[in-house]
Amino acid sequence: MPFYHTLGKIPPKRHTQFRKEDGSLYAEQLFGTSGFDGMYSNSYHEQRPTQVKEIKKQYNVAPKIAKKNNIQSYRFKGFQVAPEKDYLDSRKAVLTNSDCTIILAAPQESQEKYFYKNTDADELIFVHKGSGKLRTHLGNLDFKYGDYLVIPRGMIYKMQFDTEDNRLFIVESRRPIYTPKRYRNWFGQLLEHSPFCERDIRKPYELETNNENGEFLMKIKKADEIIEMVYASHPFDVVGYDGYNYPYAFSIHDFEPITGRIHQPPPVHQTFETDAFVVCSFVPRLYDYHPKSIPAPYNHSNIDSDEVLYYVDGDFMSRNDVDAGHISLHPAGIPHGPHPGSVERSIGKVKTDELAVMVDTFKPLMVTEEALKIADETYYQSWLDENHK
Ligand SMILES: [Fe+2]
Repeated sequence: MPFYHTLGKIPPKRHTQFRKEDGSLYAEQLFGTSGFDGMYSNSYHEQRPTQVKEIKKQYNVAPKIAKKNNIQSYRFKGFQVAPEKDYLDSRKAVLTNSDCTIILAAPQESQEKYFYKNTDADELIFVHKGSGKLRTHLGNLDFKYGDYLVIPRGMIYKMQFDTEDNRLFIVESRRPIYTPKRYRNWFGQLLEHSPFCERDIRKPYELETNNENGEFLMKIKKADEIIEMVYASHPFDVVGYDGYNYPYAFSIHDFEPITGRIHQPPPVHQTFETDAFVVCSFVPRLYDYHPKSIPAPYNHSNIDSDEVLYYVDGDFMSRNDVDAGHISLHPAGIPHGPHPGSVERSIGKVKTDELAVMVDTFKPLMVTEEALKIADETYYQSWLDENHK
């Protein structure tokens, strides 16, 4: 996140002696991204963060590909993904390419027994159902319905849920996730035309500092495998840090929609960017107000990107057949557009209460075995006029 943040206690000068009350030194860690070119934080630990006691099992969790080269439009019924107790087990990859993986998860239990760290990818977790606390080594964030949680790669975290009823839409990104550059000035400050501002970004507010020895199980994701390691000291032992690299939260309900006299294109909904995909938020808003406007989108050919729309809530103007938790996949190479009848139906409407998250990837997505389990295989024919059926 391109804003400076500090939490806990830090010394006045970086890379200088910072001592505990007993005279011993805190262990400083520089946590950088993109080599030493990207965002970084400097954290101060009770114990050295390098104390690996044991390397245990290692196993593959790569998505199982069912369709590598896909041009079929799909609808996936996301809520048909079965809930599972464990957080990591519950994560089912549905779409993937070399830049990102889109995951649905319905975890029932908080992570009690292990810490998790994804070294492959930044994680963007959209909370569709449930609430709780994201606990990380750089502080905690509360989450609830509608929150995006952005967890940069390498953050050690635990998900703590308030209840068993949780639904998450997750994007793992091998490219760093940023807010769009065009929303920021040359100092990094969010500009007036940005649909959100610094006040909408929630930073970690609560630091857990445990100076504890023992056996602490860490599940580390690297190259599509989970490696289980035992650390000799508690991974949440930071007394303070500062910098730009930390997890943060942003609520979709704080996204201020941009509207116009005629239909506005998807970039007005953009919330996050990477150099491999964009994420957009479709939120309740007033429709176009030209006297002859058509609120439904025009048919469009997204020739360079696969378009994934995750339906969260409300009534979706462009389709007759989608419910909360559904995903539509409109692959690059063929046009798509409103469902038959929805163009006329949209005329004269003044507002929508739709809520959806869109992920447009620049490389094609492969469809996984998990996705086919919840797929509507006839969706691609849903644009046919009656006389063509
Ligand atoms: Fe589209």
